[in-house]
Amino acid sequence: MSLYLGLDISTTAAKALVIDSGGRVISSVSNAVESSQPHPLWSEQDPRAWWSSMSRSIGAALSASDGGRVSAIGLTGQMHGLVILDSASQVIRPAILWNDQRTGEQCERIRQTIGRDRLIQLTGNEALTGFTAPKLLWVRENEPEAYARIRQVLLPKDYIRFCLTGEYATDLAGASGTLLMDVANRRWAQEMLEALEIPPAWLPPTHEGTDQTGVVGPQAARETGLREGTPVFAGGGDQSAQAVGVGAVTPDVVALTLGTSGVVFAPCAKYTYDANGRLHAFCHAVPGQWHLMGVMLSAAGALQWYRDNVAGGVDFGVLDKEASTVAPGAGGLVFLPYLSGERTPYPDPTARGAFVGLTTRHTRAHLTRAVMEGVAFGLRDNMELMRQAGITPRAVRASGGGVRSPVWRQILADVLEADIVTVSSAEGAAFGAALLAAVGVGDFGSVAEACARTVRETGRTEPGEGVERYREYHARYRALYPALAAEFAALSRLSDAG
Ligand code: XUL
Repeated sequence: MSLYLGLDISTTAAKALVIDSGGRVISSVSNAVESSQPHPLWSEQDPRAWWSSMSRSIGAALSASDGGRVSAIGLTGQMHGLVILDSASQVIRPAILWNDQRTGEQCERIRQTIGRDRLIQLTGNEALTGFTAPKLLWVRENEPEAYARIRQVLLPKDYIRFCLTGEYATDLAGASGTLLMDVANRRWAQEMLEALEIPPAWLPPTHEGTDQTGVVGPQAARETGLREGTPVFAGGGDQSAQAVGVGAVTPDVVALTLGTSGVVFAPCAKYTYDANGRLHAFCHAVPGQWHLMGVMLSAAGALQWYRDNVAGGVDFGVLDKEASTVAPGAGGLVFLPYLSGERTPYPDPTARGAFVGLTTRHTRAHLTRAVMEGVAFGLRDNMELMRQAGITPRAVRASGGGVRSPVWRQILADVLEADIVTVSSAEGAAFGAALLAAVGVGDFGSVAEACARTVRETGRTEPGEGVERYREYHARYRALYPALAAEFAALSRLSDAG
């Protein structure tokens, strides 16, 4: 029987996952990767450390299965990060990551150079500090010596690909997060490269998620235990691979991830973009498809913060039980989840969290429920943008730590007014990357077929009694950010000043 290896270089770990053609997990090994914040707003990692963690993860995952039988490898990982290599393929400086915020000025300049409307129409996205192109401009302006040595620009996952195969290549889904893509036409945007004066030769060839991009070379084989010549497939950025992993590969199935951040991901049969740039429009890892995406920066992360800092670190199960004793609306208490600033629908790094409406009647149970509801309201904001763009989901496939909570699932069904469906695959993006490789090597006819054969529905929560009341509460929630935004900005200035 064939085995497939999915590799995920995330912000926190290098994960190697081996599955079989029935989608069963044979082994899964993660090794941590360290980040550094050399200045406020900066976030960096050493690409060579990625490979050292990943090669160890691969070796251990193969030992726990049968290395000789891995027939295809798929890649995924954190998106948007900038890796720059010199003429000898050596890393020039640490990678600048997706959550690095240093490029505000460069984003403004990109908007002015291209024109905001044209930028959004062509690349599907607003210029956001996390994206790759502004990082490259930052290096040009601030580290000219490093810039002068650049011969190749890669995304994090594609550095792992280079270590495995010796080839420079990327996937269209990941490339869409650079702000350098003509997303409608699934190719690099000549217009962007010319306007920003970025040499096209620095960018790797782009591939659909199921295309082969090379084979495991002799040195990588020695370092990992993989068979030399094992084919390596393009895969996709973490969000699109995650969507494949839960079976969100047709336009009627929306994926919702309730992890540290919260993501609403809608596959599209044709290029669709939000003219206001609030949603991201990217190529999907599924060949010939696109997707819209909204990202909340604090979702289950907000509950985790609350549990650790407000609720005394008690078990999530205890909090869950308490929250279930409170009626929808948490007794008039509303939580704003913008604990790390926000991305969708408010691209505002100075947005802040809040409890609004506190009274002496409120107990910990109310606060817990309000946190869960506030996150669900933020996700509803994202879903409403999707609906305005013409997406009408039949079902929402939910994954991530937060959906283990039955109370939270019911809140989500009531607030989003959609069935919340849980699925069997809990291995996330690495699982999706392994499936893309299995399709690429020809063991499934299509990504949809691979998902149908390996991803099972395990539960369904339907909207219930909370729907009406949550419509009213959501309207109050919606009114709060505009009312407080200027004060959030002022508080953030005060706290920055110490
Ligand atoms: C996607 C995004 C994150 C990163 C890190 O737009 O910013 O998903 O890829 O996981």
